[in-house]
Amino acid sequence: MLVMDVFDAIEKRRSIRKYRKDDVPEVVLDRIFKAVRLAPSACNRQPWRLIIVRDAKTRTRIAKACHFVSSRSGRRHIQKWVAEAPIAIVACGLAREANTNYCNRAGEEPIVHWEWDTYQRAAAEQPGVYESTVPWDLAIALDHLSLAARAEGLGTCWMIAFDEVEIQHILSIPDEVRAPIIMTLGYPTEWPDPRPRKPLGDLVCYEKYI
Ligand SMILES: Cc1cc2nc3c(=O)[nH]c(=O)nc-3n(C[C@H](O)[C@H](O)[C@H](O)COP(=O)(O)O)c2cc1C
Repeated sequence: MLVMDVFDAIEKRRSIRKYRKDDVPEVVLDRIFKAVRLAPSACNRQPWRLIIVRDAKTRTRIAKACHFVSSRSGRRHIQKWVAEAPIAIVACGLAREANTNYCNRAGEEPIVHWEWDTYQRAAAEQPGVYESTVPWDLAIALDHLSLAARAEGLGTCWMIAFDEVEIQHILSIPDEVRAPIIMTLGYPTEWPDPRPRKPLGDLVCYEKYI
């Protein structure tokens, strides 16, 4: 089994948009999803479900739903390459299972462990005050996925530019379940050069906000 230090995996990960056709062995997938399972989540609720799509026809339908209009050019783009990855992972966030909604900005004590109905009522009374932890929980799980995949020699790409309603329709995802991220997975044709990052000094400051 290939061993890659966590820093190596972080440094060598890239967004991959060109994939080889080779399928990913079940044993490799199993190791990756076991790593995802260990991701932390608020109150350990693990409020997510990943739909693994291997079927070629479904992947083509998913790719067709991966379109967006660029505000710079005004042009419509379809992310056709999504169909070329042997696996598309549609990440669903389960708000009802998260059950943890902090009252962060209302000048009150943060409230945790609310039941779904209580949260819904409070959110309706004070719109914009309460936040679900689902986006964070989901992002952490998918970051585990991308790094574990890299350690296995696999590439991934995060995607948020798609028609979520169409994806819900294709995969029979219930209305109350959000599907905000798709991640492609497969062996890359090549590892692109790293994309630039801001200098560390722009990203980290000490003792107070600067
Ligand atoms: C939340 C999120 C959404 C993204 N959405 C898309 C997307 O819709 N399509 C795409 O091609 N890349 C998408 N990306 C990939 C970014 O463009 C990429 O991570 C960034 O340019 C840095 O490149 P690197 O991942 O190779 O380091 C997304 C990344 C993140 C984290």
